[in-house]
Amino acid sequence: MTHCEPDALIQFEAHLREALHGRQAWSRAQMTAPGGGDGADLQRVLLRPVILKGQPRVQCVWRHATRDLTQNLGADEACEMVRSHLGSAFRAAALWTDTVHWQLDIRKKGARLTRHDVTPGGAQAPAADPGAHNRDKVRWLDAEDPVWRALGLMHDGPQGRAVPVPAMARKWRQINHFVEIFDAALRQANVPLDHPVRVADFGCGKGYLTFAVHAHLRALGREPQVLGVELRQPLVAECQALARRLGLVGLDFAQGDVGHQTVQPLDVMIALHACDTATDHALHHGLRAGASIVLTAPCCHKQLRGQMQPPGVLQPLFKHGVHLGQEAEMLTDGLRALLMEAQGFETQVFEFVSLEHTQKNKMILATRRRQPQPARQQLALTQAQALKSFWGIREQALEQLLLS
Ligand SMILES: C[S@@+](CC[C@H](N)C(=O)[O-])C[C@H]1O[C@@H](n2cnc3c(N)ncnc32)[C@H](O)[C@@H]1O
Repeated sequence: MTHCEPDALIQFEAHLREALHGRQAWSRAQMTAPGGGDGADLQRVLLRPVILKGQPRVQCVWRHATRDLTQNLGADEACEMVRSHLGSAFRAAALWTDTVHWQLDIRKKGARLTRHDVTPGGAQAPAADPGAHNRDKVRWLDAEDPVWRALGLMHDGPQGRAVPVPAMARKWRQINHFVEIFDAALRQANVPLDHPVRVADFGCGKGYLTFAVHAHLRALGREPQVLGVELRQPLVAECQALARRLGLVGLDFAQGDVGHQTVQPLDVMIALHACDTATDHALHHGLRAGASIVLTAPCCHKQLRGQMQPPGVLQPLFKHGVHLGQEAEMLTDGLRALLMEAQGFETQVFEFVSLEHTQKNKMILATRRRQPQPARQQLALTQAQALKSFWGIREQALEQLLLS
């Protein structure tokens, strides 16, 4: 990550000029974070290169709350338009070239320019701390974002730079790793670039991951529409108050039970550490909401344990409760993954934080296939049935929800 204060604004405009004049390949740019004023319903301006009557032009879409206005400008006019609006009508901007994603943020203390290198395959390299010597120091989130101090994850270090509060350093690493997984899933999934990314985080607790997803979407130049849902009202009130105090647009928290949520269209459904069958309710909700990405980290696998009947030769292994518990976990999550595959998703089950951080270290990531594959879906269903009968399972919550 490169911080270029105090001339960040000038540098950003220089990169933009190079791109818009065709001296650097670029795919899009935008101005976001409206500063209010006359055009209070103006949300963002999206720029992209177009060819009109054989001539290169810059298409500018002025996105208002209820309408879009499009104009096609020459490179000089477009540069001038951006220059005159940055810092007044808008407080953030981004530019995607074929090698770099530039992100400009204008704050009271000054402007900051952040550089993310883009790999040849299109994936964005994570931002590395200046002076980082090992992979462990790679960070996906901007530590200087005020939200982390407000959440008690960061505090002032040398020269006032943000450093993790020692007791929260593991949490910070875990959150960054989660964002890395989320980022890869978002790139793989079919979530349109010019639409808001609609995310629900069920059982969001103190909201660390909810704020992180929102921050990362902003850093990517995507429009976030993120909702954290949590049973405990005091946590909801704290998170909602913080989001409003920091002026975070497109981030809300609501009190609710994951099992009783009205289904609204979603792109991403997250449910980390939702207990026992709450994970099944969350998966089912994600399916009904049409989510392209479903991220769960299940815990407390109770439902199947009491139903499992180990076949003869395995009985000596599973007379030990610890083994039965481990098998119940594997079976529950294996069945969930197969049932998601049967619904047209690719699934991966993997560890997402090392055991030294937490015992809750398994993640099921499901991304909706772009094309249905009926044969694979049928095979997954058959395999799930075979596993259930092998273990004598009568009921599994996700399956029941799908049949209901
Ligand atoms: C272990 S915390 C995880 C918080 C956060 N997702 C994370 O991974 O850091 C689980 C949270 O889920 C909430 N929760 C449990 N059951 C729930 C349900 N049925 N609906 C909504 N929230 C629930 C709990 O109150 C708790 O805050």
